[in-house]
Amino acid sequence: RRLRRILALDDFETAARRHLPRPIFGYVSGAAETNASLRDNRSAFEEFGFVPRVLVDVSKRTQKVELLGRTYAAPFGIAPMGISALSAYRGDLVLARAAGQANIPMVMSGSSLIRLEDVAGANPEAWFQAYLPGEPDRILGLLERVERAGFGTLVLTVDTAVLANRENNVRSGFSTPLRPGPRLAWDGIIRPNWTLNTFLRTLLMHGMPHFENSYATRGAPILARSVMRDFGAKDHLNWRHLELIRERWKGRLVVKGIMAKEDACIARDSGVDGIVVSNHGGRQLDGAVSPLRVLRGIAEALAGTIPIMMDGGVRRGSDVLKAIALGAAFVFVGRPFVYAAAIAGEAGVSHAVRILSTEIDRNMGLLGINSLREMSPDRLHRLSHVDT
Ligand code: FNR
Repeated sequence: RRLRRILALDDFETAARRHLPRPIFGYVSGAAETNASLRDNRSAFEEFGFVPRVLVDVSKRTQKVELLGRTYAAPFGIAPMGISALSAYRGDLVLARAAGQANIPMVMSGSSLIRLEDVAGANPEAWFQAYLPGEPDRILGLLERVERAGFGTLVLTVDTAVLANRENNVRSGFSTPLRPGPRLAWDGIIRPNWTLNTFLRTLLMHGMPHFENSYATRGAPILARSVMRDFGAKDHLNWRHLELIRERWKGRLVVKGIMAKEDACIARDSGVDGIVVSNHGGRQLDGAVSPLRVLRGIAEALAGTIPIMMDGGVRRGSDVLKAIALGAAFVFVGRPFVYAAAIAGEAGVSHAVRILSTEIDRNMGLLGINSLREMSPDRLHRLSHVDT
């Protein structure tokens, strides 16, 4: 019933704003410092328009794509998002199952509150995202566990050398460790649906949520100070560690958080199977440009050697098609899927997938293409530039 009024991905945000306690909505929706990168992730898409072709037979159009040896039903997947289980009951499992049903990839976050083995059980095709310290023992320990759980694709996030300035979390009352106080309690009272169906249900069925998947041996409860220590590694990860990881990890290896074409080339030369061009949804370096702006330069530098994925601000089928035109083989979408899981569980996520996929299909028809391979830079036009 709730879903009938959701016509586009942005509608999930409006609904989630009403459904989630303010600190939790603030944690998901917000970014670092002034939110400049968050805004640029959206506005960069608006700088490009399409040049459609007409009277083309588009009856055979398909949005299926091959990526890292798999065929997916659509050119988008679910980006890794930490502590999703605070927004939706067993959130990571909801996302994993819906993605499995739709045959799109779901990347589970290494800072999830659900055990990685459980997510692999819910969807054996899910990918695992790791934050790793520059400590070989701990790196190898986690890789072993991820491999044993059956994950075939490891996504290493590399744009988190230090913790970002998330002052917006402080403003909205969110923190890790979580500090329950009168504000959260009041929010819980005025959001009974979330309080009963997500928070109390979790506490009753599973107890206090823990960070279950870091390189620490035992999960740390979200209320504990040790969480912070665990995320602040003693030694920083560097390119040498990536070589070690490449040597040990037999599955597909993806590096997420690349923005410079120089780094894209080093990653490729280190033997990774793909990269995600990303500014972490604007949540790390505030002022980092939108990934869309650097996509074409990276595509030229890599010259088709490894697939380029991107994320940040993708909300419409037209955004997906613009990213593909500029060199992406695949995109990921973050926040809207967590909002969808929060307000309507698996049905909500499936609805979100359907909306985006339908938009892509319709736009392919209107653009006059049958395959995503037909999207190239000359299908786009910079909006400041007028043909004469
Ligand atoms: C994230 N992101 C993220 N990335 C990652 O590699 N590991 C993580 O644990 C998280 N956690 C996380 C939590 C939340 C609430 C958000 C919104 C984002 C970043 C995420 O994978 C992705 O890069 C962006 O969210 C993509 O931008 P959009 O689609 O949200 O605009």
